[in-house]
Amino acid sequence: MRDQKTSGVVTVQRLSDEQFETIRALMCDHVGIVLQGNRRALVESRVNKRLRTLGIAQYGEYLDFLRADESGGELALLIDAISTNVTEFFREGDHFDFIRDTAARWLAKGRQKLRFWSAACSSGEEPYSLAMALRSLPGSEAADIRILATDISTRMLRQAVQGSYLAGTAATIPAELANRFLLRQQTPDGEVYRVHDALKNMIVFRRLNLNKTPFAIRGAFDAIMCRNVMIYFDQDLRARIVAEAHRLLRPGGYLMVGHAETLIGIESKFDFVRPAIYRRH
Ligand SMILES: C[S@@+](CC[C@H](N)C(=O)[O-])C[C@H]1O[C@@H](n2cnc3c(N)ncnc32)[C@H](O)[C@@H]1O
Repeated sequence: MRDQKTSGVVTVQRLSDEQFETIRALMCDHVGIVLQGNRRALVESRVNKRLRTLGIAQYGEYLDFLRADESGGELALLIDAISTNVTEFFREGDHFDFIRDTAARWLAKGRQKLRFWSAACSSGEEPYSLAMALRSLPGSEAADIRILATDISTRMLRQAVQGSYLAGTAATIPAELANRFLLRQQTPDGEVYRVHDALKNMIVFRRLNLNKTPFAIRGAFDAIMCRNVMIYFDQDLRARIVAEAHRLLRPGGYLMVGHAETLIGIESKFDFVRPAIYRRH
């Protein structure tokens, strides 16, 4: 075995079928992510990053290290390395228009307490978008609006809690909202936008594994965003998550999934509202 730390050589290698199966089983058992065979090159490159960071030269040695780590810390880092965290402010923007219109009606009817859950919040763009959309509604200043934002990735959650984004990342935020809710600052890394504390205070960030049902959280929510994450899961886990969403929504509350996702094929007590938006009856 070559020691990368001492030789300084980066060894390009392929995962054996057995090693790929081991990683595939770990990801499936722990987080519910189903890695198709065509993800193999991606998995190799992501696992390689862990090897380089740890100074380990061989996949086999890395898997031994992973199995021996009873703390689960390395498994969490591997999950972080392999899972996809792509997100952006106001992604699939019609969902935010829908929530704004719906929340405006709720507020107009005198509701003063609104609760939301962003169930795979990644680095925070989704819950912050939701907070901006809601807080900019006329009459929302006095309302008690809270958002629970969860993800499995502690790395993503750290970024989310920080609430600091490179200017390019903030480009999809409507200008009037960016001016109102973000603070522009010059840093050695370039221009960054920092989320105002008033917005941060609306959100509680927590680690939650969607593969571990039932969820240890309390509802009832007015709307749940569970977007662009179920696409990585099998049908059984999707069905368990949808059942949990139903349990945690109040009657008349909404479940939003990603535009590429659907509840078709999942037995559930939701009414179809429009693509990717469902209502609990
Ligand atoms: C592609 S991002 C979607 C982010 C956001 N919802 C959006 O639509 O832009 C998927 C997120 O799901 C998270 N994730 C993957 N498996 C998870 C699990 N089992 N439990 C909780 N979060 C998970 C990942 O860490 C990642 O941040």
